[in-house]
Parts: sequence; structure tokens; C-alpha cells
Amino acid sequence: MTFKFRCPHCFRKIAANDEFKGAKTECPSCERSIQVPEAQFGVGKEIGGFVIEQWLGNGAMGEVHLAKQSAMDRLVALKIMTNDKLCEEDDKQRFVREIQTLAKLNHPNIVSAISAGEFDEGSYLAMTYVTGTTAEDIVNKDGPMAEKEAFSCCVSIAEALKHAWENGKILHRDVKPANFMIDEENKVLLMDMGIAKSLDNDNDITMAGMVMGTPYYMSPEQARADSSIDQRSDIYSLGASLYHLVTGTPPYHGKSAMQVMAQKLGENPIPPEEHQPKLSQRTCKVINELMAIDVDQRPGTWDEVIELLKESEKPKKAAKKIHVSSAVEAKNAVANQTQQKKSSLPIILTVIIIIIAVTAFVLGK
Ligand SMILES: Nc1ncnc2c1ncn2[C@@H]1O[C@H](COP(=O)(O)OP(=O)(O)O)[C@@H](O)[C@H]1O
Ligand SMILES: [Mg+2]
Repeated sequence: MTFKFRCPHCFRKIAANDEFKGAKTECPSCERSIQVPEAQFGVGKEIGGFVIEQWLGNGAMGEVHLAKQSAMDRLVALKIMTNDKLCEEDDKQRFVREIQTLAKLNHPNIVSAISAGEFDEGSYLAMTYVTGTTAEDIVNKDGPMAEKEAFSCCVSIAEALKHAWENGKILHRDVKPANFMIDEENKVLLMDMGIAKSLDNDNDITMAGMVMGTPYYMSPEQARADSSIDQRSDIYSLGASLYHLVTGTPPYHGKSAMQVMAQKLGENPIPPEEHQPKLSQRTCKVINELMAIDVDQRPGTWDEVIELLKESEKPKKAAKKIHVSSAVEAKNAVANQTQQKKSSLPIILTVIIIIIAVTAFVLGK
């Protein structure tokens, strides 16, 4: 069985086999020494009516297991946060409350939260188990996505984020390709909606990096732990995710969360066209707009973002359409002319015959 975890230094996702559990090894990406994690909760363990069947991997917030909900006889993804991640008793209750709010969200592009609760060693969240591949894994395996495909993926995510913002002012706070699941029918689903907020203590920038997942995609205001962030913070992260999808690499690189944050607060990322010279100017412009350091320079609403992304999918198609339709029109015009010529021929012939007949009749007299 394989499971996935992140390098604690460079945050790249690593897949390992059971035999590596707990081993000391080197990160294949940054080559620093790492300890491969081991699941704290094993197969058969029951938590809140869910029985663990398989360890799927570890994220920044804890373990994720494939589990069976005995009462409903269905499989779920069970995310477990142990007490050491949830510093205070209040955090536990806040986490459960937040998840209950999320469970009310119902959107085709959001992975639904099923239930959440507390147990002796921590808290858990059960969500729909999605069989598919994350956009991060697709890019890692196949290289950068085609621009059209990346835009269409981001439109689905933007629709999901719009729904969450408009139905409860819920921010995601961890928008990144690792949370975009593409299922077997090519549908794009957003995972981990709003979970980061429950665990955000706003008091320690390194904790923030650790708790809220990878820092590459985080908006500068979120990295500064501003207390008044709004939907434009998720809009920045969607821009950073689009950057990753079309270039194959996240917008910032650093050896630690702190280094990435420091870069983010002081520098613009490497222009996307430097990674991928074939990128259209339009795509680079959209990425720059979404990732503007100054929040007021970003699109202010999800509707604006969706329009911008949809527009960017269009140009080539529209140009093609004009070409096709003008060709069709030209063809139709020629056909009409021929048709007109064809349909006037019998009339002309009839007139000539009548003239001949009348002339012959007159001459005959
Ligand atoms: N709802 C889900 N369905 C299927 N697999 C999931 C689900 N949620 C998380 N996973 C898998 O569990 C692993 C850990 O996820 P997570 O803790 O969210 O970390 P991250 O988002 O940083 O990858 C990932 O490999 C992810 O693909
Ligand atoms: Mg996740």
C-alpha cells in the first residue's frame, strides 16, 4: 500500500510504500534528511462510528484514512487531528463547530463534510471519499497542464469558493492544487474547505505555515496574519494555483516556511513565462492580476474572477468560430447566388418560348 506525506522542509508531496514507514531517508526533492511518518491510528480502530480501513496519507493537519461508516455502510475519508495540533480545548470545540457550518454547504464542486466530532486523542472530520487524482499529482506526473484545461479547472474551483463566500462568508484559506481533486468523470472538486480557519491561532507565523499547509500559495496578508482578510485572499491563492498548473511549479521556492513567507512579503514571484515561454500573454496577465500583492489591485468579487477565467478560455475558440461562421456564410452566399441563377432559368426559357410562339403566330397570319 502506498501513502502520501509532505517533506517537512520543502513541502513537496512524497509517496512511499509501507516498508518505508518510520524510516530515516532523504527527501527526493530537496535532498534533506527526513523521517517518514507512521500512522498513529491503525486499521480496525473505531472513531465516532467510523472504522479505519487504510491509511491514505498525512497532511499538515494530521492523518487521513479511508474508513467505513458502519451505520451507513459507506466509505469516507477520515481526517484526524490529534490533541497536540489542537492546542486548547476551545480549539477542539471551534473545529467541530466550523465543520458543522461547512456540512451545510452543498455545491457540486465542494467535497462534502459528513460529520465531525471529538474523541479522547483529538478531533475528526469525515468527508466524502473521492476516487481520483489531485491536480498537484497530475502536474507532478504529466508536467504543466494545457492553459485551457487549467482555466476550466480554476473556474470550477472559483464557483465552489463563490458558493462558500456567499453562503456564510466562509474562506478556504488553503487553496492549492493538492486540494483540487479530479474524479473519474473529470469533475473538479475542492477539498478541505475552511478547515484551516479552525486551526489558525493567528499568533505564530511558523505555526501558521505548519498548520495551514504549504505556504507557497498563501496571500501576503494571510502570511502576515492580518485579522481582516476577505475573499481576495483566496483569490490570490487561486492565482498562485493557476501559476502552478500552467508552469508545473509553485510561484515561490524556499527551504523553509519562514523563507517562503519572507520572499512572499518582499518579492514578486518569478514571472510565469520564464518557466514556460509558450504561455500566452493573456494567461500571464490573469495570473498577475489574481496574484497582485496589493489586495485592491485584485478582482474584488468571485463573479469578476469567474468572468476573467472564462474569457481567457475563449479567444482561440471565438476566433475559430468567426472563421468557421464567415466561411459558412460565404458558402451560403455562393449557394444562394447559384440557387437564384438556377431558379430564374425556367422563367427566362418560358418567356423566350412565349416570344417565339407569339412571333410565329403573328408571322403566320
Ligand atoms: N476526501 C478525500 N478523498 C480521497 N483522498 C483524500 C481526501 N482528502 C484527503 N485525501 C488524501 O489524503 C492525503 C492527505 O491529505 P491532506 O491532509 O489534505 O494533505 P494535503 O492537502 O496537504 O495533501 C492526500 O494524499 C490526499 O490525496
Ligand atoms: Mg488536503
